[in-house]
Amino acid sequence: MEELHKAAKVAFSTTFAFYLKAHNFHWNVEGSDFLEYHDLFGKIYEEVYGAIDDFAEKIRAMGTYVPASFSRFSMLTLVDDETNILPKEQMVAMLLEDNEKVIKLLKLVFQTSESHNEYGFSDFIAGRIDAHSKHRWMLRASLKSDQNV
Ligand SMILES: [Fe+2]
Repeated sequence: MEELHKAAKVAFSTTFAFYLKAHNFHWNVEGSDFLEYHDLFGKIYEEVYGAIDDFAEKIRAMGTYVPASFSRFSMLTLVDDETNILPKEQMVAMLLEDNEKVIKLLKLVFQTSESHNEYGFSDFIAGRIDAHSKHRWMLRASLKSDQNV
């Protein structure tokens, strides 16, 4: 069970760091098409933030504590902070790369959860994998140059 608790805490902290980065980019993006990027990052941070409370409470329901401070998050997250203001395309590329890390991690947590018979938690994690797959699609589509279909 300790293995699952640890994996869930890392996935939660990484999800929080991912949320914060999407919100950071929503606030700080600049340039032509500002509104499109501001909205793209907005959609992503709102969706991920909307899952944070449920994620935390599901971890509590498994009988362990939730990391909930900047110091604990930075200790556990696999998604690094961004303190520079990047060009908008780099913001999208970085968030796409981070999103891949989140998906990979969630898949690992899903497998661990299944092996511990925590099916309710697996179900929640499967939903998060789905949501991040949609974020992948939106980020990838935004990076693509214009072409005929
Ligand atoms: Fe906003």
